[in-house]
Amino acid sequence: MENFNFYSPTEFVFGKGRASEAGTFVKKHGGSKVLIHYGGGSAVRSGLIGVVRKSLDDAGVAYCELGGVRPNPRDTLVYKGTELCRKEGVDFILAVGGGSVIDSSKAIALAVPYDGDFWDMYSGHPVEKALPVATVLTIAAAGSEGSGNSVITKEDGMLKRSTRSDLLRPKFSIMDPALTQTLPAYQTACGATDIMAHVFERYFTNTKEVEITDRLCEAVLLTIVKETPRVIADPDNYDARANIMWAGMVAHNNICGVGRQQDWNSHGLEHELSGLYDVTHGAGLAVIMPSWMEYVHGHNVMRFCQMATRIFGCQMNFEDPEATALEGIKRFRSFLHSIGMPINFAELGAKEEDIPKLVEKLGIGDGTRAGFMELNADDVAAIYKIAAHAEL
Ligand code: NZQ
Ligand code: ZN
Repeated sequence: MENFNFYSPTEFVFGKGRASEAGTFVKKHGGSKVLIHYGGGSAVRSGLIGVVRKSLDDAGVAYCELGGVRPNPRDTLVYKGTELCRKEGVDFILAVGGGSVIDSSKAIALAVPYDGDFWDMYSGHPVEKALPVATVLTIAAAGSEGSGNSVITKEDGMLKRSTRSDLLRPKFSIMDPALTQTLPAYQTACGATDIMAHVFERYFTNTKEVEITDRLCEAVLLTIVKETPRVIADPDNYDARANIMWAGMVAHNNICGVGRQQDWNSHGLEHELSGLYDVTHGAGLAVIMPSWMEYVHGHNVMRFCQMATRIFGCQMNFEDPEATALEGIKRFRSFLHSIGMPINFAELGAKEEDIPKLVEKLGIGDGTRAGFMELNADDVAAIYKIAAHAEL
């Protein structure tokens, strides 16, 4: 295991009906003028925004509002929100929604105290200051409720880029599994796929002797494999929703990733797909991640055998470990298909002829991308090609 620091300062407020406590928690964490930031309308339709407004009123906390965050959130709304916050003297951002709303909130939070263009911080400039952010989560997926990450798409050129800072970790996150019962099955499944991907990005490592984090990763993966079909068959199943919601947080606040080298190449390749075609992040991952696995499995066949036997119930074939590894990958792809995910470019709405463009946007040049297995531009093109033609 490698040396590490683990810092996860978020106060998690979990359970039924807890959104009505938002005002109390904003006050506790020092907010006096709040921006309520939300998405395309689901939080308004469900009555959640009304609950949040009332709880801020009851706590005597002033607020203004900005809705309209789209999935794959755009820089254009971040500029608008930043102006609004400066004009209104906002000192606390409350994200009510999913990863897109939370990431847009984090971007506004770092933009408000910054003199230059906030995009600098999505192009390598460190985050030195940010307003406090908190969340009322409505979908188990991105894990942004517990992470220091934010992913934003620059409308001009549809460039999707991320930043990371502990200053962006939410002060509190209200997680009521009942709020996720209104999700369409497709969004539930996209969320489950993203959660699994966050774990696999950490699971496939070259670091030795990481039993505890391996087992934590496996617990999250087994939970998603068990609970996702239950909520797809029965969307109001609170207990299954609750397990998925907490799994989504555990998958990405990095408790599963400390002390080990991580990969993140599937996310890198996926971000170019959702940048170019504006597809849902989880759906893009369903197409990329098993394809990445097929391409890199030879780098450490036994690690893939571990996944195959411990997560997907494969029998270990000691004569032919590669067969076990490949069977595990096949079962992963079949699982994704069974919950309604696309498995190739055509099902996702991507085009094979765009592969050179996707590779170019990644900006690898003559270099490589680090990770479980280092990838050069030809490797990446080969992974996209597998994804273009993948079948069950
Ligand atoms: O906009 P509304 O109307 O709210 O609809 C949303 C949206 O259409 C809908 N939705 C959310 N909660 C709902 C609901 N519909 C009905 N009932 C509810 N309770 O679901 C759709 C997807 O929402 P979104 O916020 O986009 O989903 P998700 O949480 O998957 O976030 C995706 C974004 O997060 C980024 C992704 O790249 C993508 O941009 N990621 C952020 C990460 C982070 N900050 O740590 C890590 C991830 O790897 C990921 O990259
Ligand atoms: Zn993700």
